[in-house]
Amino acid sequence: MNQSELKSFLDKTDAIVGKEWLETATSHPEDIASYYTKLRKFYQKMHSEEGAMHFPIKPLEGGGAHAEGLLFHVKDLDTTIKENKYKKVMELGSGVGFNLINLARMNPDVEFIGFDLTDKNIIQARKKAHERRLTNIQFKKRNFDELQVSNFPQQDLIFAIEALCHSKNLDKVIQDSHNILHSNGRLVLFDGYGTKKARTAGEDTLRAADYFSKGFFLPNPQFLDDTLNSGKNAGFEIILKDYTQNILSNFVRFEEGVKLIFRFPWLTRLMIRFKILPIEVFRHGLAGLYGPYLLKYGYAGYFKLDCKK
Ligand SMILES: C[S@@+](CC[C@H](N)C(=O)[O-])C[C@H]1O[C@@H](n2cnc3c(N)ncnc32)[C@H](O)[C@@H]1O
Repeated sequence: MNQSELKSFLDKTDAIVGKEWLETATSHPEDIASYYTKLRKFYQKMHSEEGAMHFPIKPLEGGGAHAEGLLFHVKDLDTTIKENKYKKVMELGSGVGFNLINLARMNPDVEFIGFDLTDKNIIQARKKAHERRLTNIQFKKRNFDELQVSNFPQQDLIFAIEALCHSKNLDKVIQDSHNILHSNGRLVLFDGYGTKKARTAGEDTLRAADYFSKGFFLPNPQFLDDTLNSGKNAGFEIILKDYTQNILSNFVRFEEGVKLIFRFPWLTRLMIRFKILPIEVFRHGLAGLYGPYLLKYGYAGYFKLDCKK
């Protein structure tokens, strides 16, 4: 999507949901859980049968297979675990367990624990771990914005893949993680963030960014520079890697699919009103529609933050 198409899609979006919708669509924990409950099967069908709920990181040359790209994060974390001889690993926002189940299989002598907000995700993750007879892994229901750090055993590695974007208090999660980590430990984040350019963006781009955030049920916009500062203030040394270009091709494919439901806005509006198209699915589509524009024009990026204590 380019600048002139942007305006036309914003108008179509307004025609479907009404301009006031941006003010009223909420991203409370119960909305987030409902989104992941309703979208879980969709993710499984369209994205990853094994239950990955993150973007594939693909090589820039030659594309690479979707399933291989989804394993990029796991392989990267596996290297970190082995190189540092880590023994206790925690995932924040563990979804249906794709990352931890793979890591637990690759590291039978390491203890893994995953926290998630969505009951259905936890049930599914536990079932998969049980079926694979993995005894070094636990999944628990917990809101990562409300970690009670005094209750935790020390961890060597804490990681979150496209989950802390849902945090209402990122400073606190980062500080809590620092407090839970062993002195040689690290926090690894893979996520999308607004860039400096987004702070001075024009009105249309800001609306696109708002629709994008609502699409992924993100409560607050998170910016890369703020997150780096939170990490440094908590006491981490951070190595930053930019993977924006590596996720773009997949996002563009998502955009192409979503554009179909914007062809006849009146029909989409009716389908939402009569619950033929669940609003959560439509919201998800907004992220697919506006995400590539924000990434392509440098208003957002996808990064790995390797935060060493
Ligand atoms: C995009 S999915 C990513 C799942 C997993 N990390 C992966 O890579 O497949 C985000 C996950 O974060 C969980 N989540 C969102 N907000 C949360 C919170 N405040 N506390 C715990 N989990 C949360 C959601 O339920 C969802 O399972």
